[in-house]
Amino acid sequence: MAELLRTDRLLVRNWSVADAEAALKIYSEGNVIRWLHEFDCIPNAAAMQTVLQGWTTEQTEMTPGTGRWALVLLQGGTLIGGISLLPMPVPEADVEIGYQLAPEYWGRGYITEAARALAHWAFQHSLVELFALVARDNARAAATARRIGMEWVGESDKYHRKRLEVFRLRPDDLARARQK
Ligand SMILES: CC(C)(COP(=O)(O)OP(=O)(O)OC[C@H]1O[C@@H](n2cnc3c(N)ncnc32)[C@H](O)[C@@H]1OP(=O)(O)O)[C@@H](O)C(=O)NCCC(=O)NCCS
Repeated sequence: MAELLRTDRLLVRNWSVADAEAALKIYSEGNVIRWLHEFDCIPNAAAMQTVLQGWTTEQTEMTPGTGRWALVLLQGGTLIGGISLLPMPVPEADVEIGYQLAPEYWGRGYITEAARALAHWAFQHSLVELFALVARDNARAAATARRIGMEWVGESDKYHRKRLEVFRLRPDDLARARQK
């Protein structure tokens, strides 16, 4: 499986159909999927395999600098979450960073660590800014966005079927947050 990057504690790598069992623990979890945009609960391992197959095929066709990746603990090799850089519905040139973590791993700074590294990678791959779209009551996701240096720029319902908080990250914001 192609490795994208490593941080102190995490490996960020491509998804594989073989991840279905571990991925199901994340994408069938109500506390995770309730916050994702237009994403239905995955009912079983077979359905998860189909989704992963779709993600891996799509990955080969995506614009450089975008994609979906699995987050794996370097120590022990457990798959604990997913992270993505995906084109936004409007305008299509903008890119959204998305993150999902199995609840038992919340509160340990894993997504902050992965998102900072992925944003750094994205800015080296010619992206000039990234966005996060966060539901108003998703306090954890908003806190993570702020922790990685994102700035709240407003609210909008133009992207999906509900009103979402819009956060933006530029290279200088990331550099400032990494110094804290
Ligand atoms: C959003 C989500 C990924 C955030 O998970 P998280 O573990 O809180 O994220 P972070 O990596 O930012 O961790 C921060 C927490 O770890 C703690 N922490 C521990 N070590 C840390 C470190 N080295 N660096 C940063 N934070 C650390 C922080 O104090 C904070 O804890 P607190 O929330 O109890 O104050 C997770 O809640 C999730 O998967 N939610 C469902 C999906 C979702 O909402 N996705 C986003 C849609 S827009």
